[in-house]
Amino acid sequence: MKNYISYDEVNITEAVNQRLSDCKNPRLVQLVSSLTQHLHDFVREVELTEEEWLYAIQFLTETGHMCTDKRQEFILLSDVLGISMLTVLINNRKPRSATEATVFGPFHVENAPWYKNGDDISHGAKGTPCFVSGKVKGVNGEPIKAVLDIWHSDEDGFYDVQYPDDKVAGRGKLHTDDGGQFHFRTIKPVAYPIPTDGPVGTLLQGVSRHPWRPAHIHFMVVAEGYDTLITHVFEKTDPYLMSDAVFGVRSSLLGDYVRHEAGEKAPDGTIMNEPFYTMNYDMILTKKAEATSAA
Ligand SMILES: [Fe+2]
Repeated sequence: MKNYISYDEVNITEAVNQRLSDCKNPRLVQLVSSLTQHLHDFVREVELTEEEWLYAIQFLTETGHMCTDKRQEFILLSDVLGISMLTVLINNRKPRSATEATVFGPFHVENAPWYKNGDDISHGAKGTPCFVSGKVKGVNGEPIKAVLDIWHSDEDGFYDVQYPDDKVAGRGKLHTDDGGQFHFRTIKPVAYPIPTDGPVGTLLQGVSRHPWRPAHIHFMVVAEGYDTLITHVFEKTDPYLMSDAVFGVRSSLLGDYVRHEAGEKAPDGTIMNEPFYTMNYDMILTKKAEATSAA
């Protein structure tokens, strides 16, 4: 180990990482030393100016100030830089037949209301009715009794938490039946722009990127003995599939939202007096050991 009194543009990296020598947590040493190495390499590569350094500090400070219990600007920042999706990809190497995972996003809330199979989880969210159904099963086809946590935007592209009132709409939890079947009524989500009134919006505008995400419903599927699945089902004709602002689209997650006209019978037997959609999508889970051993 070298001892430095003063540092140059190169040895300062080694000097910082030498200060980790008393740390007893090897994973933490790996994380901090690698982060230091990459950040220092970045600063050297772009020859960061002091004005740019200060701007970055202010940007991150504003990002923190934007966070509340309903708004997570740091997740949004991670999302638009592709870091969230890259982390998902690394941590969800599954057999080809399993449902793929995608980003969690910033709009999930704990303790969404419980519903029963068949209920309307829109709870007043505006939009065209949509009847969603599917089955939770394993990669070998076995039915799985699971809990689904579901959330999505309304027809104006907003999640309930983006409104100033405390109304809960367009989200809920439900149990599958014993055969893994689930079905519920809600409204068809639409494409929406991620929030652009904070520093992440400033970043996107600065680099001439659009903020749009293709229409999707979020699902978190939890079952005993299986890996939790966090995913979306996208609308397969959405124009933003190829340019999702958060890089979350996967070709296996395209759902067929089928339009039906007024006067047709809905899956729950109701003769609908307005157009509506149906969407069926099965959720295929991996057993805990399957996901960790699969390449
Ligand atoms: Fe979303």
